[in-house]
Amino acid sequence: MNHSSPKKYHVKSFGCQMNVYDGERMAEMMAAQGLSAADSADDADLVILNTCHIREKAAEKVYSDIGRLKREDGSRPMIAVAGCVAQAEGGEIARRAPTVDIVVGPQAYHRLPELVEQAKGGKRALDTDMPAISKFDHLPARAKQARPGAFLTVQEGCDKFCTYCVVPYTRGAEISRPWGDIVREAHALVEGGTREITLLGQNVNAWTGDDEAGRGQGLDGLIRALAKIDGLERIRYTTSHPNDMSDGLIAAHGEVDKLMPFLHLPVQAGSDRVLKAMNRSHTVESYLKLIERVRAVRPDIAISGDFIVGFPGESDAEFEETLGLVRDVDYAMAYSFKYSPRPGTPAADMDGQISANVMDERLQRLQNLLNEQQARFNAATVGRQCAVLLERTGKLPGQLIGKSPWLQSVIVNDSAAAIGDLVHVEIASAGPNSLIANLIRKAA
Ligand code: SAH
Ligand code: SF4
Ligand code: F3S
Repeated sequence: MNHSSPKKYHVKSFGCQMNVYDGERMAEMMAAQGLSAADSADDADLVILNTCHIREKAAEKVYSDIGRLKREDGSRPMIAVAGCVAQAEGGEIARRAPTVDIVVGPQAYHRLPELVEQAKGGKRALDTDMPAISKFDHLPARAKQARPGAFLTVQEGCDKFCTYCVVPYTRGAEISRPWGDIVREAHALVEGGTREITLLGQNVNAWTGDDEAGRGQGLDGLIRALAKIDGLERIRYTTSHPNDMSDGLIAAHGEVDKLMPFLHLPVQAGSDRVLKAMNRSHTVESYLKLIERVRAVRPDIAISGDFIVGFPGESDAEFEETLGLVRDVDYAMAYSFKYSPRPGTPAADMDGQISANVMDERLQRLQNLLNEQQARFNAATVGRQCAVLLERTGKLPGQLIGKSPWLQSVIVNDSAAAIGDLVHVEIASAGPNSLIANLIRKAA
């Protein structure tokens, strides 16, 4: 189908925070091309579906979304499929969904403007290359945006090859963005009004690079440097792999005030046999030891994790070990998933695939336990005072919602403050997913 030059774009991102970040960069690129942002896909003449391939449900969603883009008069916008499904399925997408005009992988989206040109002529455009040159060198500089909390991707890709996971195939090998680029982007964000930066990477704590003086640094060195930026109040990072939790990074949690007391450290399972079959290269004991060390330097740290239930061959007893590990750690929050076989990964061909019923029951039991722990963690903050960075308005008039240092959502009532303020509050009550607080004073 021939399209005229698109004037309004809409980006819809699925999946992890890195995809959200990529979605923002794609939007900024379209804005730099002179397009304006549409509030919804219905109002756009270019729709970018920024997809996720991590589990089957996520990956299949894109096809129903594409179907829904058809308008009543039979017309449709120009459709681009970006993200990890684009990388994993490539040309297959066009076969399954002939209305797709552009397929662009996560390492190639800097070429979107050219691909749009190509698609205008009615020619389907595909780019799933993983070029050695970085897309970041070809993207427009970060647009100024008054956003209290922002993401900043510092590391991409994964070399770990957990046997269930598509990320090493969809995002390619581990690379670290250069120090100078990251520091520059952080400054630009802070100048635009950002006060909290979350450093992102599939294995963010594997980040390495050379500082201005040419000294080799790890993520902790980068965090210490960013902490010196005036106006930047808070730093977070996600997601980390247990094997890349360096001594320096652990120490930083006890020493860098701006580094928030929150650690997302996925473990996946509580049985050493299962962890080995997953190719996780850490044990239950080594994981628990890490948690203990982080808590020794930062006793109030909130621990979060990811879990997979029903990995091929997981026995009842092995699943019980996962519950045991959860009890030992006592999580502030966590994500848990049913194992989803992914095409091309080793685990998809393993013996002992677990039935849907068993997986459902295990997930239910695990989530009950995790929810109890989260509720207890939240309840323990009642009566405490803490700083909250206000990020958006709440449902009721006068309400503002922000994040506690421990990444809980906090609703601040009757606030004389504004979005972007870092305020001091006292937590008045706690629900399972959020806290309610009273304003004490505006902080810095
Ligand atoms: N790099 C991060 C997270 C990657 S994906 C890490 O290693 O921790 C986010 C989470 O999705 C994983 O931690 C895992 O719990 C889950 N996940 C990945 N592949 C999956 C699959 N095939 N089935 C179910 N859950 C999966
Ligand atoms: Fe996937 Fe494992 Fe890499 Fe995480 S570490 S992205 S789970 S392969
Ligand atoms: Fe999904 Fe790709 Fe992220 S598969 S979780 S969008 S890296």
